[in-house]
Amino acid sequence: MTAPGSNTSTAALATPAGSPFFSYRNGSLHAEGVSLSELGRALGTPLYVYSRAALAAAWASYQEAIGAHHVLVCYGMKANSNLAVLKEFARLGSGFDIVSGGELARVLAAGADPAKVVFSGVGKQAWEMRAALDAGVKCFNVESVPELKRLSQVASEMGKTASVSLRVNPDVDAQTHPYISTGLKENKFGIAIEEAPAAYQLAASLPGISVVGVDCHIGSQITEVAPYLDALDKLLKLIDQLTKLGITLKHLDLGGGLGIRYDDETPLAPKVLLDKVFAQLKARGYDGLELVLEPGRSLVGNAGVLLTTVQYLKHTEARNFAIVDAAMNDLMRPALYEAWHGVLPVEPRTNASTLYDVVGPVCESADWLARARQLALNEGDVLAIESAGAYGFVMAGSYNSRPRAAEVMVDGDKYYVVRQRETFADLIRGESFLP
Ligand code: LLP
Repeated sequence: MTAPGSNTSTAALATPAGSPFFSYRNGSLHAEGVSLSELGRALGTPLYVYSRAALAAAWASYQEAIGAHHVLVCYGMKANSNLAVLKEFARLGSGFDIVSGGELARVLAAGADPAKVVFSGVGKQAWEMRAALDAGVKCFNVESVPELKRLSQVASEMGKTASVSLRVNPDVDAQTHPYISTGLKENKFGIAIEEAPAAYQLAASLPGISVVGVDCHIGSQITEVAPYLDALDKLLKLIDQLTKLGITLKHLDLGGGLGIRYDDETPLAPKVLLDKVFAQLKARGYDGLELVLEPGRSLVGNAGVLLTTVQYLKHTEARNFAIVDAAMNDLMRPALYEAWHGVLPVEPRTNASTLYDVVGPVCESADWLARARQLALNEGDVLAIESAGAYGFVMAGSYNSRPRAAEVMVDGDKYYVVRQRETFADLIRGESFLP
């Protein structure tokens, strides 16, 4: 059978899309100083591999942009909540944006400072509020009036005061994928900006509540400055209104959302955004306000790859499939958002390349990792799925009873397993037979 897309030319040696910390050395892809084929052999695949230097570089890009300004970066830990990653950011001085009691437990387990934690999310339960009040978080980003009332009640019962920002929905279009756009009227997130003054007045009157800030998060994988500046403008107008009502704020939280390079996007550099934000704050007389940011993806996305091994090459009339040992349960983004991730052969071949769909073994047609990629492959080859450091492992599940992958952190020419591969015993732990 003639394989569609067969090509007698050799596959060009692809270059890693987003990160200088993953590069070819002597014809073999490395993470910093560690060969990825060696890692695959030693630890098996599928395997998430992170670069410690890439984390530090992403952190530094924020610090350089911030300079002497009063800014707290609260890493949006939902992007990658491995304890080693959290510890690294805590060491670097980061705060954390959490969205659940589970994320609070992780932050505390990593030894992070709760006074630098902001608690976001539309569905905080009373037990989660209690845990966060006990820990002493910096602020609750409250997303509705009913939540505000519940928080007031919980804090009052505990004899504590909850510091609160209202997450307002500024109704701006972040120009990103609809599933990761959050700042439009029709989204479930935040309080409509027109309703915010009344909600703030209520907050100021409630027991157990101290109003400290305003918050928004307009979406994710944003590559334009304009939506941020629109949102900031609306937030500053709201602050003007609040000042007239006698409500003063200490901080303004602009959320996360800065995009990274997956394919050919031009990512939004923190400095490009923050220079404009600082200028706007100054022009409006708000440079005394503390700025809070909640970046997730831009701190970790290009610091990780997912290694997977080609099991079979299957040529059909319509398509060529590279069936690999990673699947949608390991990396859900392609199935969920039709997201594009680069695919790099760890040891590129010089034989003829073919157009392949890279798919997993899960029994779903949505189980694909990459489509229509020109690759020269043999069975047993190891591939690196790029830009998998954010929303990769954290969104993994065990569908088809597939144990979750291991995670490893590379540091120079050393590596550390930071999460063991799940075992079959892990998979059935907690299950039981009927009597
Ligand atoms: N703050 C809040 C309140 C958020 O909801 C999020 C992400 C962030 C910060 C961090 O946003 P980032 O800087 O990472 O864009 N699973 C999707 C992304 C979902 C983002 C959810 N919220 C994906 O794989 O593209």
